[in-house]
Amino acid sequence: MAENVEIVAPGMAVQIHQQVDFQFPQLLRHGQRRLLMDVDEAVELSRRAREHGVDLIDCSSGGLALNQRIPLAPGYLVPFAERIRREARIATGAVGLITTAQQANDIIRQEKADCVLLAREMLRDPYFPLHAAQQLGVKLPWPPQYLRVAPEGTPKRQPRGD
Ligand SMILES: Cc1cc2nc3c(=O)[nH]c(=O)nc-3n(C[C@H](O)[C@H](O)[C@H](O)COP(=O)(O)O)c2cc1C
Repeated sequence: MAENVEIVAPGMAVQIHQQVDFQFPQLLRHGQRRLLMDVDEAVELSRRAREHGVDLIDCSSGGLALNQRIPLAPGYLVPFAERIRREARIATGAVGLITTAQQANDIIRQEKADCVLLAREMLRDPYFPLHAAQQLGVKLPWPPQYLRVAPEGTPKRQPRGD
């Protein structure tokens, strides 16, 4: 059992809450799959983290050890996000080979996670959110300097003014 992780992570959440005037959500990243802890332990940690003010668990699998072998497939970590969300009753972010708009949308619509967090696909296409919105028929504003390559009728992004 990853007792140290269980003690340190919620303890950090409390410390952070005491130090920071929160204007934005507090996220905690997990690395499951027997490196730091198994999924049962991750559920328990997530439940405790929620009680200590964490808003969302980013459900990763670590990947920090050379001998760690993780079978890869599209959305390979989504089941962790789904299980933690259901059993620990906390918002989760799904990671792991999420590469298409449809796949991302399905994960959210099927309530497997509350958001998707992309790494490699964002390196391939830094404008993935804009392209995904376009493919899903959602009109998002684009930065003014990109409007000349945006789809017809795309609204201009307004400065946030903060
Ligand atoms: C260039 C790169 C750097 C990363 N650095 C970190 C890191 O510092 N800490 C971490 O927990 N995960 C890190 N990751 C893992 C990603 O956050 C993500 O969980 C993983 O790549 C799976 O998502 P993906 O299939 O969308 O890439 C990194 C991934 C990439 C591609």
